[in-house]
Amino acid sequence: MKMTPKNSVELQKMRAAGRLAAATLDAITPFVQVGVSTLELNDRCEAFMRQHGGVPATLGYKGYPKASCISRNAVVCHGIPNANEILQDGDILNIDVTVILQGYYGDTSRMYGVGKVSDTAAKLMRAAYDGLLAGMATVKSGSYLHEIGNAIDAVVTPQGFGIVRDYCGHGLGNVFHEDPQVLHYANDLFGKWRLKKGVTFTIEPMVNVGDWRTELQADGWTVLTADRTLSAQYEHTLAVTDDGVEVLTKSPKGYDCWPYG
Ligand code: MF3
Ligand code: CO
Ligand code: CO
Repeated sequence: MKMTPKNSVELQKMRAAGRLAAATLDAITPFVQVGVSTLELNDRCEAFMRQHGGVPATLGYKGYPKASCISRNAVVCHGIPNANEILQDGDILNIDVTVILQGYYGDTSRMYGVGKVSDTAAKLMRAAYDGLLAGMATVKSGSYLHEIGNAIDAVVTPQGFGIVRDYCGHGLGNVFHEDPQVLHYANDLFGKWRLKKGVTFTIEPMVNVGDWRTELQADGWTVLTADRTLSAQYEHTLAVTDDGVEVLTKSPKGYDCWPYG
């Protein structure tokens, strides 16, 4: 694994990109309502990114057709926004946006509940967020990469939920995906890789009510839980510092974990 620490000029650009990605998720929040299509949410995200000088990174990435990923209920990740997918009372959805600003990437996602969500759904969303926080808490210059997955696992697995293994967090900078690869479950990379100051990467645990297994759909993008139980995810872009982590995609409005406002 070849981790490339960013210099201070690059970090400034990462901060700006991360802030715009987070502001996009803030801006979409009031529109997540019963009766709205996931395409409308996508289009509003795209307009916001462009109005602020950003370009949506997912649009055209390996042929992906939209400016965001919107993953509802049993969709784990990479849900494609669609005019025919209309939000219903009780739905939960993840909106994941990646913006390119001044050549640098900011990648973040959050969960949104629509109307009255079940207790299980609320607990699931909280578990994904708590897992993200626990993973982040292990990070500092010199910490081991595997500690992230261990910490997430220690929070999520005792609740009976499954942590997705097929998709992981990733380094990013002036490219979308680079080293390190960040596993979200306890793994056997013990003592192998250390993080360094200035390395920028995401943590983005996907947590299922049931089993961790996933199933890629025929469209080549949409990932469902194999057992069709609900899935939840939160994602931040982070920079390693001497004594911890800088959250580059912190919500300007304080919309950290659903419910917001
Ligand atoms: N934003 C996603 C991530 O967290 C990647 C989406 S790639 C796409 O890494 F092509 F599916 F949009
Ligand atoms: Co990501
Ligand atoms: Co993302």
